[in-house]
Amino acid sequence: MAVVDACDEWSPLREVVVGTAYGAMFPDEDRRMIEATMPREHWDEFRPGHPFPVWITEAAEQELQAVAELLESMGCRVHRPKRVPWEGLGGYCATMPRDSLVVMGDRIIEAPMAWRSRQHELLAYWPLIQQWRQAGARWLPADVDLGMELLDAGPREPGPRWVIGEGRPAWDAADFLRLGPRTVVGQLSHVTNRSGIDHLRARLGPDIQVHLLQPDDPHAMHIDATLCPLREGLALYNPDRITPDTMRGTPLDGWELVPAPRPEPNAGPPPRYMTSAWLSINLLVVDDQHVLVEAQDEKLQTLLTSLGFTPLPSPFRNVQALGGSFHCATLDIRRDRRTWTT
Ligand code: ALA
Repeated sequence: MAVVDACDEWSPLREVVVGTAYGAMFPDEDRRMIEATMPREHWDEFRPGHPFPVWITEAAEQELQAVAELLESMGCRVHRPKRVPWEGLGGYCATMPRDSLVVMGDRIIEAPMAWRSRQHELLAYWPLIQQWRQAGARWLPADVDLGMELLDAGPREPGPRWVIGEGRPAWDAADFLRLGPRTVVGQLSHVTNRSGIDHLRARLGPDIQVHLLQPDDPHAMHIDATLCPLREGLALYNPDRITPDTMRGTPLDGWELVPAPRPEPNAGPPPRYMTSAWLSINLLVVDDQHVLVEAQDEKLQTLLTSLGFTPLPSPFRNVQALGGSFHCATLDIRRDRRTWTT
């Protein structure tokens, strides 16, 4: 049995990394990047040396621990990242392992992330990666000079005005979703450029197709609050950003595509400093039946039940305040092998 082996978002989960909120800092990024991707009312929080409020990181750590324990109780092996003092490194956090690494089959691929504040994030996962490499996993480092300028450099894509150019390859792992051993879908965004797509394609090799979707999202950064595959042939989508029409001619053509209910406005603290309320569909599919969903998202739980799933409502609002929900805050290491049509 391969130590690392996952190539879709839904087969039964056997081994996973669950992030940590330890030491989380507001990312210190160029103002243009913040304005392109972050909610306007929180722009001023993104400044050097500014930690997230301790009451949020402490509550987030408890939420992550509870999810780790729940997954363990379901027979899943759970790993946690190393605790890294992000403040001294000008870093962000290790709460969102989904953003920096892709597991595809037995490969672990490092994303050449666009954000300066994320260039050391691998430190948190390195002890785990070393262990998996030694046990036979294929490790593909980004192998890109992350110090090269992105915002001011290189030609730009026609179409949406992305804040990064083509100065070097850039992609975030969360701009992609795996639909089986031969198929990945993804998007261009403020953190993923055209040369980044070429870089990922080269990493995946000729047997795996990377299809680009074109969501209507001027603030695009990460596709996992736009589309959520639940099992082969069934996905939830964010009707504010994408429609079944725009998925014609892609690997999702022929899938049952179900619009997700509009998320409820935030009932109170903590704020979602870094994302839209559509983080509601940033779900983790645990197996054929079970899906982790935020405890307050009752309409979504009802919809999942009607689709034949058993939702696992879990408090996660404090983790969401740090920039992601169940999909972002986890990284599948092993899921059962299946037969796929895509
Ligand atoms: N950037 C994505 C959103 O805010 C996650 O919806």
